Amino acid sequence: MSNLEFIYDRKSIRKFKDTKIPKEDIIKLLEAATQAPSPKNQQTWHFVVIQNREVINKMAEIVTKTHTYLAEIAKDEKQRKLMMSTLPYYICFKDAPVVVVVYSKAYKMIEEEILKANNANKEIIDILKSTHSEVQGIGAAVENFLLAATAMGYGTCYMTGPAHSKREIEELIDFNKEGYELMSMISLGVPEDETPKAPPRKPLDEVVTFID
Ligand SMILES: Cc1cc2nc3c(=O)[nH]c(=O)nc-3n(C[C@H](O)[C@H](O)[C@H](O)COP(=O)(O)O)c2cc1C
Repeated sequence: MSNLEFIYDRKSIRKFKDTKIPKEDIIKLLEAATQAPSPKNQQTWHFVVIQNREVINKMAEIVTKTHTYLAEIAKDEKQRKLMMSTLPYYICFKDAPVVVVVYSKAYKMIEEEILKANNANKEIIDILKSTHSEVQGIGAAVENFLLAATAMGYGTCYMTGPAHSKREIEELIDFNKEGYELMSMISLGVPEDETPKAPPRKPLDEVVTFID
């Protein structure tokens, strides 16, 4: 497979057309997401798909309220303004016809259980856990979703910003699965005709080390 265009075409989309997405396309994207690798294939993810306009609007209101409250914690006006400047990026899902809320449960690491039962020291356990494996699995699944969406002509944005309102969002969407934590959200829709370019990437020599 040499055609990697869908990788280079993907960029975060924050403005969407008011176009409904067929359910079969959403299913295809969720299938692509769940083809992702996950630690010990535990597939710790769960996806909640929201298409209800009122719920999406309400979510944006909730995120705005929490964000404003958090910004007000800053005593300095400059800091408060800086905090508020990120708000548009936390509610950029508001015009999307579909928002997918991504949950994860904890990854069950057999080694951790055995070592803990044998009183291994905390440093060893911390090293084992430092990879945050379930989070990496969620990231892989979300990226699959984003790339598949690009290949199908849709726009997406991967978001963790709105998760500061996870408790209020959970209450709104009435989703409460034992042991699952809200990790991120994906907006999905048909992009507006004019959308900003993806920001530039660091050159490879800054982010890659070859050991020959
Ligand atoms: C884990 C993660 C969290 C992100 N959270 C947000 C967010 O809350 N809001 C937002 O507008 N973009 C968010 N982004 C998108 C990044 O800002 C974006 O990917 C980056 O600037 C590169 O731009 P591109 O996606 O257009 O290539 C997030 C991306 C990742 C991977």
